[in-house]
Amino acid sequence: MTNKVRNPFIISGYLSAEYFCDRKTESIELTGALQNRRNTVLVSPRRMGKTGLIEHCFHQKEITKAYHTFFIDIYATGSLKEFVFILGKHIFNKLKPKGIKFVEQFFATISSLRPAFKLDPVNGQPVFDIGIGDIRQPLLSIEEIFTYLESADKPCIVAINEFQQITRYPEKNIEAILRTHIQKCRNTSFVFSGSQRHMMQNIFFSASRPFYQSASFMNLEPIAIEPYRKFIHKQFNKADKKISDECITRIYTLLEGHTWYMQVLLNHLYEQADKSKEITVAEANTVLQATVESYRTIYQSMVAMLPERQKEVLFAIAKEGKATEITSTEFIKRHGLNSASSVQSAVKQLLDKEFVTKEGTDYQVYDRFFGLWLSKTYGIGYML
Ligand SMILES: Nc1ncnc2c1ncn2[C@@H]1O[C@H](COP(=O)(O)OP(=O)(O)O)[C@@H](O)[C@H]1O
Ligand SMILES: [Mg+2]
Repeated sequence: MTNKVRNPFIISGYLSAEYFCDRKTESIELTGALQNRRNTVLVSPRRMGKTGLIEHCFHQKEITKAYHTFFIDIYATGSLKEFVFILGKHIFNKLKPKGIKFVEQFFATISSLRPAFKLDPVNGQPVFDIGIGDIRQPLLSIEEIFTYLESADKPCIVAINEFQQITRYPEKNIEAILRTHIQKCRNTSFVFSGSQRHMMQNIFFSASRPFYQSASFMNLEPIAIEPYRKFIHKQFNKADKKISDECITRIYTLLEGHTWYMQVLLNHLYEQADKSKEITVAEANTVLQATVESYRTIYQSMVAMLPERQKEVLFAIAKEGKATEITSTEFIKRHGLNSASSVQSAVKQLLDKEFVTKEGTDYQVYDRFFGLWLSKTYGIGYML
């Protein structure tokens, strides 16, 4: 690392192993699966660390040396054409630094995307320049892209983030088409990651669906408290800063170790920490309240957009932190709600909008800071 990192608690992207906490067994498991050509499904709530884990594995020596790695995020895609666009452009961008010969080879195999091949008039560099509407034969392009990957000089690993998105594409039989190509691959392994558990499970666990039992399943849990504690002390100590064990325990408990929220709070605490003076629970609490409040404008507008019924159910869930049996008479009475059926339909909307998640039988506000803000603003408040 040449640049000196000002704050070791990274809150976006992946930097290097030094700033990456734990995930030792998960890295071994995922790296091993990919090296042994087992396609893998990786599922967790958003911001738990799926992308980070994949990046971390892609940075391992045994992977960088022996494989070509590709990582696309299809969260914003709505059709196979867009999928082709993103995958094609990503592969192109990774080849570009290797020189024009590689780019030409790419377009020789993927001839359906050849119209995208232009040279920048200013610097003469190849660019990938095509409108999504110009991708006229996405099925052919997909086939050619797979042919290209299969003929590469090294085996390839392709990670597709938010894979559940393919179920929303309007084209017919997308799953069957992709499955057929993927099944034929001899040179390419895949990671399918996703945040919407029930959709991912439907794709891979339903006997009637093409991807049924086609990949091993990895459920990414929060980083355990002890390795997180060790990581936090290590990062603080490097700068002669200190944080108490009690403080770490309280933060971890309140946020249930949810990675991104932990990192954001730790980033602020690290900034606040004076040399040699230990961060106390009271100080951490002030920082937490300020952090949550800093998102107020966004949270207010999120609440304002909701219909009344959904708002009431959201508040009820936020008040309980983790809510179960939300259609029971007890729950309805406790929160002055309408009826089981109205709660049912409201929560369905809230799940669709990703305001709320369901893990097992528990409902919870998806965004941890939003949950804390709601409970403070409309309910009982919270303290570290
Ligand atoms: N093991 C880790 N150690 C430190 N920070 C992490 C770790 N995993 C993820 N993060 C941080 O948490 C954030 C969310 O992780 P990400 O991998 O994007 O989650 P997901 O892909 O599950 O939505 C990232 O921006 C990253 O900075
Ligand atoms: Mg991600």
